[in-house]
Amino acid sequence: MPVESSIITTALQNDAVMGLSCDPKYLLSKYFYDSRGSDLFREIMQMPEYYLTGCELEIFRNQKKIITEALVNNTERFDLVELGSGDGLKTRILLEEIIKSGAEFRYVPVDISSEANRELVDSLAVNFPDLPVDPFTGDFFRLTEKLNGSVSQKKVILFLGSNIGNFNDHETNDFLTFLADICSTGDRVLIGFDLKKSPGVIMDAYNDSHGHTARFNLNHLERLNRELEADFQIDKFEHHTTYNPLGGEVRSYLVSTDQQEVTFKCSGDRFRFSKWEPILMERSRKFDLSKIKTLANDHGFNVIRSFTDSKGWFVDSLWEKQ
Ligand code: AVJ
Repeated sequence: MPVESSIITTALQNDAVMGLSCDPKYLLSKYFYDSRGSDLFREIMQMPEYYLTGCELEIFRNQKKIITEALVNNTERFDLVELGSGDGLKTRILLEEIIKSGAEFRYVPVDISSEANRELVDSLAVNFPDLPVDPFTGDFFRLTEKLNGSVSQKKVILFLGSNIGNFNDHETNDFLTFLADICSTGDRVLIGFDLKKSPGVIMDAYNDSHGHTARFNLNHLERLNRELEADFQIDKFEHHTTYNPLGGEVRSYLVSTDQQEVTFKCSGDRFRFSKWEPILMERSRKFDLSKIKTLANDHGFNVIRSFTDSKGWFVDSLWEKQ
């Protein structure tokens, strides 16, 4: 096993053991994205109910010129770092525009899925043969080591798709503190936030009738079966989603339909589930503009501009480090 993936397997195991030993049980949503999970997420992005992707695509397609100008901000050379780059579907629009602007930059896609990263690098080589691409596979927080070598380099950081919605308050603070740490004064970041809207619209996006979201969640258990030799019986878990408009948080659960026990063969750990006991699989938080401004200001950033779609459902918020 390559070093990179053995580090991820150890983290997967430690985090799964930790989460399943807690009451209530939880698993970390970053582990959704093995290669199958990345494919399943791509299917989610293609369904009309999952409006987030369409909204952000609309923002980029209609406002790419002005977004690029604001991002590049007359900087001659910079690193364009994208956290959670996935298949780079939306970023391509910006990449093309930044290249057109004549700016000199290196693209650093950071993703937890090595496969997603490899496919991205291959397809960028076809579309943008002259673009220097320097991928990083792993957890964002380990990126510091890589960037330390080029600390003085100006940076533009992308964190799109409302990935930030996966974090609870504590994780959001840790993440924005990390972001502030890797930025120097004048560096800019573009963060995608899904906004509060009609609860029915939000529920349809996370509880689709085709079962894509359910399969995406169940794949996490299948991944533990594959990689940690666990023995989850997938048909004994039911996907359930809630949205609480108070606070604006979607939560996804897998609920055990039976009393059962699960064993990780790789470590010998055993976890008991009572009938109807849930595992919290993911939170997807929804924001509003005043909350976004507070988050920025509390971490040493100013909000420069907000780019929204025509429905006002999603915002790409551009921040500058003070
Ligand atoms: C990739 C974290 C933005 O929370 O909307 C989609 C993941 N989960 N459907 C989100 C997801 C269920 C997605 N993010």
